[in-house]
Amino acid sequence: MHPMLNIAVRAARVAGTIIMRGYETRDELTLEQKGAHDFVTQIDKDAEQAIIEKIQQSYPDHAFIGEESGTTGENEYTWIIDPLDGTTNFIKGIPHFCVSIALLHKGRLEQALVFDPLRSELFTAGRGTGAQLNGYRIRGTQPKDLSNTVLATAFPFKDKSTFPAYNQTFCKIFAASGDVRRSGSAALDLAYVAAGRYDGYYERGIKPWDVAAGELLVRESGGIVTDFKGNNDPLNKGEIVAGSPKVIRGLVSHLKNL
Ligand code: IPD
Ligand code: CA
Ligand code: CA
Repeated sequence: MHPMLNIAVRAARVAGTIIMRGYETRDELTLEQKGAHDFVTQIDKDAEQAIIEKIQQSYPDHAFIGEESGTTGENEYTWIIDPLDGTTNFIKGIPHFCVSIALLHKGRLEQALVFDPLRSELFTAGRGTGAQLNGYRIRGTQPKDLSNTVLATAFPFKDKSTFPAYNQTFCKIFAASGDVRRSGSAALDLAYVAAGRYDGYYERGIKPWDVAAGELLVRESGGIVTDFKGNNDPLNKGEIVAGSPKVIRGLVSHLKNL
């Protein structure tokens, strides 16, 4: 494993311990509202702080973009961190959330991990070295079309005025596919695409920390990642489609006009 990814794994495990402790005592947590239907807990903040401190012990000059603390420093190496992806699940006691950490070098995704502390599942990827789950190679699926796929998506809960348009497209995608899930963790959705558990995923309204690690995981597992029009480099576009080339083609044919 690349030394920088190794440090990120250690940082994710520290965050995982904080998250699990918080999960067991979540009734005592105070919630802070960041926006419409968007909450943060002290656990999100503590986990992010712990990740940054752990990485800084080895790489004091690196820069960080964290969901909770914003941008710290400037460097050709920049870590993108979502300390707890699936906060609503965490708060409600739904056992589906994770830590997501990605490393950019000169703007290019180099290393990535998604860690599910409840299931002890660690998804890792390095550019050009494939994707792994707990050290074993993973590959995405290669369906011939959408017909028997199990897809994942997310409802636009932060801006419900966009729901009617989203729903029109959803109806078409649902009709064309086998079934569709909404899990509440974009980072895990992408890790599951990389692991072949979901055949594809799409969402609008995401931030770089939701999807940076998942993007590299999907690419290194043989899939591709685009925006709703099928263009590359979705990280800063606020929307993402992931899956095999044929799944992307099927999804983008519906999503391109949304
Ligand atoms: C959210 C989750 C959710 C997705 C949202 C994200 P958070 O992240 O990934 O599944 O639909 O777009 O904001 O707030 O739990 O870190
Ligand atoms: Ca997130
Ligand atoms: Ca988060």
